Amino acid sequence: MCGIVGYIGEKSPKEVLYSGLSKLEYRGYDSAGISILGKEQEIQTYKSVGKLANLREVLKGVEVSGHIGIGHTRWATHGVPSTKNSHPHNSKSNKLSLVHNGIIENYAELREELVNKGYEFLSDTDTEVIVHLLDANFTGNLVESVFKILPILEGAYAIGVISSDEPDLLVAARKGSPLVIGLGENEKYIASDVPAILEYTNRVIFLEDGDVASLKQDEIKIWDLEKNEKSTEETEIEWDLEAAEKGGYEYFTLKEIHEQPRVIAETLKGKIKGNSAIIEEMTLTKEELENITKIHMVACGTSYHAALVGKAIIEQELRIPVEVEVASEFRYKNPIINKTDLVILISQSGETADTLAGLREAKKSGAKAIGIINVMGSTISREADGTIYTNAGLEIGVASTKAFIAQLIALYILTLYLGEKKNILDDKRRNYIVENLKKLPNMVEKVLDIEEDIKLKTRVLDSARSSMFIGRNMNTAIAYEGALKLKEISYIHAEGYQSGELKHGPIAMISEECPLIAIATKSDTYEKVKSNIEEVRARSGKILALATLGDEEISKISDEVIYLPEIDELFSPVINVVPLQFIAYYAAINRGLDVDKPRNLAKSVTVE
Ligand code: AGP
Repeated sequence: MCGIVGYIGEKSPKEVLYSGLSKLEYRGYDSAGISILGKEQEIQTYKSVGKLANLREVLKGVEVSGHIGIGHTRWATHGVPSTKNSHPHNSKSNKLSLVHNGIIENYAELREELVNKGYEFLSDTDTEVIVHLLDANFTGNLVESVFKILPILEGAYAIGVISSDEPDLLVAARKGSPLVIGLGENEKYIASDVPAILEYTNRVIFLEDGDVASLKQDEIKIWDLEKNEKSTEETEIEWDLEAAEKGGYEYFTLKEIHEQPRVIAETLKGKIKGNSAIIEEMTLTKEELENITKIHMVACGTSYHAALVGKAIIEQELRIPVEVEVASEFRYKNPIINKTDLVILISQSGETADTLAGLREAKKSGAKAIGIINVMGSTISREADGTIYTNAGLEIGVASTKAFIAQLIALYILTLYLGEKKNILDDKRRNYIVENLKKLPNMVEKVLDIEEDIKLKTRVLDSARSSMFIGRNMNTAIAYEGALKLKEISYIHAEGYQSGELKHGPIAMISEECPLIAIATKSDTYEKVKSNIEEVRARSGKILALATLGDEEISKISDEVIYLPEIDELFSPVINVVPLQFIAYYAAINRGLDVDKPRNLAKSVTVE
């Protein structure tokens, strides 16, 4: 959702900014731009539409010297992707240059006021109002001027701004959109997230909402919005740079699918002892845990699907009612949350604006809210009452794969934890759960081994214009997730349904051009799913089924079958999602698409 980066120091800003943007491109790739300022120079700005490679072309052969700069990769909200709408945006005098991530909600009124004052707008963006507003309020002191305008801005922002009046200063501020500061020897960085600067430093400061930072090569100051200077809390990041490289795979998405056995093992590591779950980050007291009678889960997209699987697991194992809500709905529906309820926010990035708003909404009710989060130090993880980290490592592919599997594992761990603390699961059941969890890395490995077979069977989608995914009970949400993955990266329309619902309408869609992908692995409802497949077969639909190894029956009623290792239905979502990830991946490859950067999307959705 737009990526911003900034640098002040002795290195070439052009190189640092470009390299940072290349790591942030997954956040948006509609256009990109940089502004650079030298000690005795004017601000120089370069922009291009489309992916970052186009900016490289623009910069080729251009001598851009300087020691301070800002860069931006855009995911369009206001104004189409075009050069004029690309960031950075500069003041008319070219004294100020600014990059922004977020949405300024009152931009229309601000724009009108500025136009009345004689300001001319060159773009259709909400961002341009910030730079003109800054110009209109400029006192000659950049920090002071930024403080003057921030209270006027409604909505969300992370900004980086430079001024030719103060060429030794980079100013940053955030409210609602993430921003991190990187610390090097006699140099500073800003970035929307850590990977952008990891090549240069792993020492960072996560800015809080309302923070304003002034960065010089050898000095850093941070204030809150009331201008109280804050002490800086440095964090050392453990992720290595290798995580941000493709490691021989054609796409990050494929690399990340292949990392899943390790991710499962990593997420389990240190969290299982004997038949108990250890969640050190859980800050709820014994009494609070005992009092929980209802759980709410709030998330978006793939994380929402993980929440649906979590509901199925917890309700089956613990008989505690779980309500799952899409985060963008949750905050506006005046949710009924009792003080004794537990609210769980699930998010890979920990920055999704809707999920963050859900957390804040939940906290108003006085209930405890915990996060299941992948990115350490992210806003949700900092604001929640506790966080279970998923340890999937850096996920770069816009389509979430390994983070989803890690979320599922965290939900099993949480089930085990609550089951023990609330005396719901006896020793025998906990032993059983732990045994199965430990088997999962190896079983997922077995699915990775049949990648070539899955790739071949993906051909069933070659002439598809649309597709249906079905699953039941534990696997309903896996059908939704399979459909979302396919839509996201192959642009083949796909719908996920509960198997039994197909006959109530969606079956009308089945045709040569709309194949069925059925999750028909062994389960309590296996026979029912088989009947649902038969219903489609009777209407000459093409069928690709996921079935359990050794199941001969399914091959008689399906065109293609992908055979998967046998596991208890409770854990089957972890196995079944993997072939669906491969199907989406190869469907996209077969259509010649850029898997890591699907059109219209961004990795981290930090606007509402
Ligand atoms: C997943 O493939 C998507 N790109 C998207 O649905 C994502 O899961 C959603 O935006 C939520 O993101 P989060 O987990 O970072 O909160």
